[in-house]
Amino acid sequence: MKPVPEMVALLKSHAKNAASRSYSPYSKFKVGAAVIGEGGEIFAGCNVENASYGLTQCAERNAISAAIAGGLRAGTLKSLLVYTPGEHLCPPCGACRQVMHEMMAEESRVISCCDGDVYRTWTREEYLPDPFVPEISEG
Ligand code: THU
Repeated sequence: MKPVPEMVALLKSHAKNAASRSYSPYSKFKVGAAVIGEGGEIFAGCNVENASYGLTQCAERNAISAAIAGGLRAGTLKSLLVYTPGEHLCPPCGACRQVMHEMMAEESRVISCCDGDVYRTWTREEYLPDPFVPEISEG
């Protein structure tokens, strides 16, 4: 379901908090993300970079991992908001979209926001129309 503005503001405050703890000495781009579950539980994450650049972990995937470790089940996450600093919206990267598609609920939304009041939302079909979906049984 499309998140109401109050929900966007709540998730944005969690994501901005997480962004302030970002470890990004290489890009200096502090990203934060927040996920909310069916019961209203909120989990956040930030980007964590590494001297071996390819090992960098995005904020979105770190927030999803925190949610799973915190007890939310794959396929039940209701909304994920990503905050990037600056005046321009930065949509999530392709790798994060694949992970989101597997972890978010069917009717979920992904939201992108920045320092202004503008934000943008996507359904699963909108952010990843042709996902890679093998047969899985949850462990
Ligand atoms: N980054 C994210 O955290 N999420 C995205 O969707 C794209 C990029 C991070 C990775 C890296 O630390 C920095 O932003 C610059 O690419």
